[in-house]
Amino acid sequence: MAQERWTVLKVLKWTTEHFQEKGMENPRLEAEVLLAHLLGVDRVGLYLNYDKPLKEEERKAYREMIQRRTAREPVAYILGYKEFWSLRFKVGPECLIPRPETEHLVEETLRLAAQEHLSLPLRILEIGTGCGAMAVALAKELKEAHIVATDISPHALSLAKENAQAHGVGERIKFVQGDLFPPGEAPFCLIISNPPYIITEDLFQLAPEVKDYEPLDALDGGGNGLRFFREIAQGSSGYLIKGGWLLLEMGEGQAPKVTNILEEVGFTHIELVPDYAGVKRVIRTQRE
Ligand SMILES: C[S@@+](CC[C@H](N)C(=O)[O-])C[C@H]1O[C@@H](n2cnc3c(N)ncnc32)[C@H](O)[C@@H]1O
Repeated sequence: MAQERWTVLKVLKWTTEHFQEKGMENPRLEAEVLLAHLLGVDRVGLYLNYDKPLKEEERKAYREMIQRRTAREPVAYILGYKEFWSLRFKVGPECLIPRPETEHLVEETLRLAAQEHLSLPLRILEIGTGCGAMAVALAKELKEAHIVATDISPHALSLAKENAQAHGVGERIKFVQGDLFPPGEAPFCLIISNPPYIITEDLFQLAPEVKDYEPLDALDGGGNGLRFFREIAQGSSGYLIKGGWLLLEMGEGQAPKVTNILEEVGFTHIELVPDYAGVKRVIRTQRE
């Protein structure tokens, strides 16, 4: 009997149906992304090779990827990378996967960095850098910037260092392991952070991809989700130059409470920046 030919197209169809049955949201896209990665081509490369049969070892490796994905492991961890700001970042379970909405924080930071009164060299602090996506994106865009990036997690920081080296900006980013602010590094023109901001109780209602795989310390914002906003707001004045800016990413619905926190510690000019979905995603405020 002729052996069944598992061509690219047939494997994709089978996997798409399998993912569909398992309730995945983007079955065809994910089937293609995983197979393209495995075969070392882009998605167009798959379409051009629809009739090509997979080798036995390719099928075996793809089966393993499918098993990991149906166990709800995020695609980015299976691939080992995630795109952010059109750059590729190495990621793994030791760091949060950078989200597209965080690009708004990069955009806002670039807008403010273009303002003339911010003194050179442009010193930027990122608190909670994870895999370093924001720090690296900013260093790539702002050739004159010097960035200090902190994280409590030494494992995340070592990924961040690797990413900075890979993108050729390792010389201009200093990575500091510790709790929020880096002692002895003040002052900064800009402080940015996408802090953990999920209410502890809500963590267990998140999608399995998040709650079972991503580091909970990167998400847990305490009993009311606001712990880090308060601590960063309190510490920032001592680290900012006069006229310097603090920019924070927030979760949906947190804007009024984060505004109050900033006002309580004496920030006055507070502005909210919506994302493309209209969610007030970034809050920015200037030290008088
Ligand atoms: C929401 S993630 C953001 C990661 C990355 N900046 C991004 O936007 O994708 C929050 C990060 O803060 C770090 N973190 C948590 N507690 C911290 C602390 N006390 N000091 C510094 N970093 C902390 C976590 O390890 C995690 O990398």
